[in-house]
Parts: sequence; C-alpha cells; structure tokens
Amino acid sequence: MPKPATTLHWITERAARHGVTLLDRVEPNAEEDRAGLVAGIFGSPATIAPKYFYDGLGCALFEAICALPQYYPTRTERAILTARRDEIVRATGTRKQLVDLGAGDCAKAALLLPVAQPRRYVAVDIAASAIRPALLRMAQAFPGVELFGVVTDFSRRLDIRGAIDYGPVTFFYPGSSIGNFTSDEALLMLCRIRELCTSGSGLLIGVDTKKDRARLHAAYNDPLGVTAAFNRNILNHVNAILGTDFDPSAFAHVAFYRSEIGRIEMHLEAMSTQHVHYDGTERVISAGERIHTENSYKYAPDEFRALLQRAGFADISLWQDDAADFAVYYAE
Ligand code: AVJ
Repeated sequence: MPKPATTLHWITERAARHGVTLLDRVEPNAEEDRAGLVAGIFGSPATIAPKYFYDGLGCALFEAICALPQYYPTRTERAILTARRDEIVRATGTRKQLVDLGAGDCAKAALLLPVAQPRRYVAVDIAASAIRPALLRMAQAFPGVELFGVVTDFSRRLDIRGAIDYGPVTFFYPGSSIGNFTSDEALLMLCRIRELCTSGSGLLIGVDTKKDRARLHAAYNDPLGVTAAFNRNILNHVNAILGTDFDPSAFAHVAFYRSEIGRIEMHLEAMSTQHVHYDGTERVISAGERIHTENSYKYAPDEFRALLQRAGFADISLWQDDAADFAVYYAE
C-alpha cells in the first residue's frame, strides 16, 4: 500500500541498477480509496475490501497459505502449468510481452518464462513490498528479459502505460484472484483486459472450480490458523492506513461456502462489543457482528467460458488437473 515517496524513490533507484523499471501508479487513487475504506467500516454490514490483506505481513501470510496442505489451488495450478507447459505455450506463443496481474512473488510466471521466453515481463501488483524483491530475483534468473514492475490497484483501472509497447501481450492472471470479484465485476475486468489485447495477444487465467463443500471449507479453515491470522491481519493494515484502533485479537475468523451463489465468504466476527475510533468518531461493533472481508467465487468451466465469451474472447482453450480441482484457460 502507499509507501512514503522517499521509500519508493529508494526502491526505484536500487531496482534501476539491476535493470528493473518500477512504475508507481498508486497515488492517483489514494484519496478515493481511503474514503471507500472508511465507508466500508462505518457501513452496515461493515466491509473491508480484500485488497487490504496485502501489507508486508499479509503477503507473507498469503505465501504461507499457499504452502498449506489444505489450500489446494496454488499447488494444483502449479501442477497444471508445469505438466501442460508446452501445450500452453503453443497456444500463447513465444517472445511476446508477459503481463503478470497480481504477480506477488512472481513464482508462477517463473514456471512459464523458460518456455514462453517473453521479450518483456511486467509484474503488476498492489503490494510494492512484494514486487521489489521478486523482480530483483527475476533479474538474476532471467538476465535476457526486460523487467518492469507496476505498483497499482488494477481492480480500479488497468494502468500499464509505459510498461508495454504496441507488440502482442500475454496477460497472465493466475491464482483465481478473479474470484474476489462478483461476476459483473469479473466481466468488467475481463473486458478491460480484452480491450488491451491487440492481434496476437491473449489472456492466460487460472480459476478455481466448484467442488465438494468439505474441501472448500478446509481450504479456508486450516488447522494451523494461518488463514485466520491472514484475515485478522487486515485490521492491522487498516489501523496503519487510517489510524484506527481495531483489536485483531477480539475478532474470530469465519469462513464458509455458500453453494447457492458459488462463493466462499470470509468475515471477522466481534467476540465482544468493540469501540473503534477514527478521526474523532466511533464505530461500535456489537458482539457477534461481522466485518465482511472477502468473497472467493468458484466457477464451473461452462460458467467461466461463458464469461470469457461475454467479454469478447472467442478462441478458448482449457487445461485441468485429473480431479478438475482447478482450471487454466487461454483466451484470444
Ligand atoms: C488470492 C483471492 C485467490 O480466494 O483463495 C486465500 C485469497 N483468502 N485464503 C482465495 C485467500 C483466504 C485467495 N485469492
């Protein structure tokens, strides 16, 4: 999230010495963003957008989630990208620009790069703290590739001006991050990507599938409490941004699957009455009241194909693991 400008300048200078160009596109949204966050907290029910999970600690906790035995999406997607890599790259083509939406630690793109051989790799993420070290590692591993980082909230606007040229682009949107959006918002996001697709461009996207409720539940209610810590940590991040005084230890992690709308919901439930202060005002959260922090939509392949088609994509390929736990689509 917004870092003091001095930090970012330091990051940019250091990165430049390693042949990495970092672009900061966070600031234009900062005020509007803050207003939305405040409105969510004072709203009823209270909501905090899932993008606020990803401060430094939040990114580390998310990486830990991805290593949990119960959290199947990451390892299943990695297995598909590894086993079907040649076929996938035959579909996407090689030597294009690769734009990684929500790149995080760049680990998934690193699987594709040796085969896809993009001439340019653009890591886009809301978390400046994740992008910098990840791109410096990419610079070591792939010395021949032009590297760009764009720190932006692409859920608002996909602003990658200056990071791509007019040549074809493979947009890479892994991890079922699109699941954070309602289907209308997801459609809008896909349309924005489609708009940037010139001839020879396309979208490679990983999407979680609908499945047995018990497995979905286990993936978001792990026995080590990592997901609970990840959920509660959003309050630390909000405190840092707004100067509020949320007590994370006073909230219980609640996550469940709503099969009728095909989504996991995560909430933070106050275990006792909470008095949260912001800018001279108070938000009283009664015992049992919940703050809605995340939706994670799951799509059957037919549903997601239909969404891609509505966004204007015509030529769609699909790869899945044997158990059909996860889906990777390439759409042109
Ligand atoms: C990054 C949005 C795909 O929904 O599974 C993991 C985030 N939340 N455990 C997901 C998440 C709780 C994740 N996405």
